[in-house]
Amino acid sequence: MAALLCRRSLPRTWLCRRAGQGCGRHYRAALCAELKQPLAIEEVARRPVRPHEVRVEVHFCGVNFADILVCRGQYQEKPPLPFTPGMEFSGTVLETGADVSSVKEGDRVIGVSGFNGMAEECIADQKTLWRVPEKVSLQEAAVLPVSYGTAILALEHRAHTQPRETVLVTAAAGATGLAVIDVATNVLQAKVIAAAGSDDKCKLAVQRGAQGSVNYSQGSLKEAVRRLAGSRGVDVAIDMVGGEVFLEALRSLAWEGRIVVLGFAGGNIASVPANLLLLKNISAMGLYWGRYQDQDFPVFSRSLSSALQYCQQGRIRPYVGSVFKLEEVNDAFLHVIQRKSTGKVLLSLK
Ligand SMILES: NC(=O)c1ccc[n+]([C@@H]2O[C@H](COP(=O)([O-])OP(=O)(O)OC[C@H]3O[C@@H](n4cnc5c(N)ncnc54)[C@H](OP(=O)(O)O)[C@@H]3O)[C@@H](O)[C@H]2O)c1
Repeated sequence: MAALLCRRSLPRTWLCRRAGQGCGRHYRAALCAELKQPLAIEEVARRPVRPHEVRVEVHFCGVNFADILVCRGQYQEKPPLPFTPGMEFSGTVLETGADVSSVKEGDRVIGVSGFNGMAEECIADQKTLWRVPEKVSLQEAAVLPVSYGTAILALEHRAHTQPRETVLVTAAAGATGLAVIDVATNVLQAKVIAAAGSDDKCKLAVQRGAQGSVNYSQGSLKEAVRRLAGSRGVDVAIDMVGGEVFLEALRSLAWEGRIVVLGFAGGNIASVPANLLLLKNISAMGLYWGRYQDQDFPVFSRSLSSALQYCQQGRIRPYVGSVFKLEEVNDAFLHVIQRKSTGKVLLSLK
């Protein structure tokens, strides 16, 4: 099978039926059998749920930059092959284990799973599921875990963003970027300067609530931010690009400014010039949202409950840029890698 999966002559997606193998019902899942190769769609056999586990019928699964990194072997976490990617999903509960008390059959839920969301069904520990309120659609809900969980912890828990402060966000039209704009503007009453790689992305960021924008593919980010925010600079910077963009964001900070490192989408990890931290009493910090699940579960869980609550109250409006079918998963990955995506990219499993 592995030999088949890496044959480049095969179409990027195909359905491999393994009828007759295993017992009971089967469901379709995306499978990474070899790193840096297209994913396959396979039919896999159900396994029984353990006492604390829940079987969920997946409606939507987020396609995250991190999923692509995992399938290339370039992510912090490296699951053993073969695996099904997909770290967040929304859906309905199909079956619960004997010890499950938090959800019941038919409940609408969002979940965070290690690596099994890109499938028609998945099994999750009951601790990693949150009930979706009635007013929130399963499509909107699927945007919340990674993007809004991260935005909320970056802005609230790490940077302690205050009303009327100015926030600079890079990769601003991406899934996390738009979530940062939404939470900063509509929940925290901060002002946002959006930095992105094209005029169209800048326009979208402004439509979604940013007060100003900078296209960093056209000259100095720091100079453009200075024109928008004044010589004092910005209070908070949330960076996902790394390299020179990170350094320019750092140099754009005001006295006692805070910069939060979320990722390195541009591929380069910059070193922090410590003298810049000293001169303006700046704090530079990181945020790895998923790590809170193991290290500080109450904080992790609160980020999801807050996202659901803000959404139910109509204070945030998750933005879905594109929806692909399961069998189009490789096209969805390309869409993200080629920087064509805006907002959240979802797989629809229904
Ligand atoms: N630390 C955490 O817990 C956490 C959580 C969520 C996401 N992240 C990280 O944050 C980053 C953005 O995630 P996302 O889910 O918002 O992704 P996304 O929607 O795919 O956005 C990524 C954006 O990065 C920018 N980018 C700059 N250089 C790029 C390059 N060489 N290749 C591809 N994109 C490039 C692009 O925007 P422009 O064209 O506008 O530059 C692109 O739209 C990723 O690095 C991700 O791993 C971290």
